[in-house]
Amino acid sequence: MHPLEHFLLGKIRKHLIPHAYGKVLEIGPGTGVNFAYYDLSKIKSLSCLDIKLSSVARQRAPGNTNFIETSDTAFPFPDHHFDTVVETLVLCTVPNPSGTMAEIVRVLKPGGQLLQLDHGLPSNPFWALIFRLIDPIWSLTSQGCHLTRRPDTLMAEYGMTIEQSGGRPKGIFSWSISRK
Ligand SMILES: C[S@@+](CC[C@H](N)C(=O)[O-])C[C@H]1O[C@@H](n2cnc3c(N)ncnc32)[C@H](O)[C@@H]1O
Repeated sequence: MHPLEHFLLGKIRKHLIPHAYGKVLEIGPGTGVNFAYYDLSKIKSLSCLDIKLSSVARQRAPGNTNFIETSDTAFPFPDHHFDTVVETLVLCTVPNPSGTMAEIVRVLKPGGQLLQLDHGLPSNPFWALIFRLIDPIWSLTSQGCHLTRRPDTLMAEYGMTIEQSGGRPKGIFSWSISRK
């Protein structure tokens, strides 16, 4: 992941993550690679939810970060609770992406924002076919990561309004800032 992080993903994170403000929920922080990019002066609280929280993430996290470990698709938060939800490279892995998106929208305040970065199915039909063919083996060997998901379609289905976006249609990675 290091070259990808250096040449592509790090640049996207650097643009995307400083938009987080207010009460923030990050789902699937992994090793906490996003933490360095938050503008802490804009953040009231940071909660992180993962099926398995890494000790590296706990060390990297800003003080007072609230960590929740759960494998439930349902988030343990009330409706309209967060100003910002951050989701980077998680929708490819969760077992129920539609359920996770429904939860993101539920916990966002009206007007709250989703900061999202994912990889998805290429739009080129040849590469889409290749991705579909290798997806079963890929997901078995990559901790449930899928190559065939369409986060952009999912956000549209759940009524998020995209304000800024980048990546795709030709590439595999896409990011967006969208509002409920
Ligand atoms: C590929 S890593 C992405 C890590 C980090 N967000 C990044 O941008 O590099 C996927 C993360 O999603 C977490 N995850 C997988 N299924 C999840 C679920 N159902 N709910 C919350 N987190 C989940 C994994 O444990 C892991 O930390």
